[in-house]
Amino acid sequence: MILEVRGINTFYGLGHILHGLSLTVAEGEVIALLGRNGAGKTTTLRSITGLTPPRTGEILYKGRNIANLGPHRISQMGIALVPETRGIFSYLTARENLAIARRSHSRWQVEDVLRRFPKLGEVLDRKGRFLSGGEQQMLAIARALLTGPHLLLLDEPSQGLGPLVVEAVMGTIRELKRERVSMLLVEQNAEMALQLADRVYVIDHGIIVFEGTPALLRQNHQVTATYLGVGG
Ligand SMILES: Nc1ncnc2c1ncn2[C@@H]1O[C@H](COP(=O)(O)OP(=O)(O)OP(=O)(O)O)[C@@H](O)[C@H]1O
Ligand SMILES: [Mg+2]
Repeated sequence: MILEVRGINTFYGLGHILHGLSLTVAEGEVIALLGRNGAGKTTTLRSITGLTPPRTGEILYKGRNIANLGPHRISQMGIALVPETRGIFSYLTARENLAIARRSHSRWQVEDVLRRFPKLGEVLDRKGRFLSGGEQQMLAIARALLTGPHLLLLDEPSQGLGPLVVEAVMGTIRELKRERVSMLLVEQNAEMALQLADRVYVIDHGIIVFEGTPALLRQNHQVTATYLGVGG
């Protein structure tokens, strides 16, 4: 396992959000974490990356407990987050956004991410705030890749994007999977996630209520109707 989350409890102040949550990501696996608004998906990613560390429980990354290491150290160890808010610097150009993220030891350098996202090459001198939603998402993923991640956490990468850009993002996730990057994909777009994932977790009120293959989830109408708002 590259990641083993074991019984974490995460709070915002007095608000107890994650209740003994456990999940695993194997080397090279794509795991989807699904659930409706406010279920605790982003909080799970914040717990793993040290932005909101769990109060109790363990997070093992490559066998080492990282639950109390802090975001900078965790990022250096090879975990990258593409946040829901994309995290683009709006007053810097796309080129500058990339330059800040790059690390010399990474397998992905600027020319590699530009090969993967040729559209970005056309807008390198544009400031972050003038990029379209799709361009911002590509830039956010490119930035994460430049840090050389072994585990990539994606928070709703399809959110607010048109179908063509969603296709491009999915293509990128598939390519990364072929390169054996492990991924934890948070989505409200269950269909997209089910097409990509090896295994799926469904979270509700900070508790994992389903774990299994996409095929198993598709057959489970009770779970899809209750927690994903799919079907009737
Ligand atoms: N900074 C915060 N302070 C207090 N409560 C918070 C904070 N951020 C989130 N919450 C609460 O924690 C719970 C889980 O939120 P979280 O953002 O993890 O949900 P989510 O599954 O990512 O939802 P969405 O699909 O809307 O992004 C919600 O009840 C939310 O209101
Ligand atoms: Mg969220």
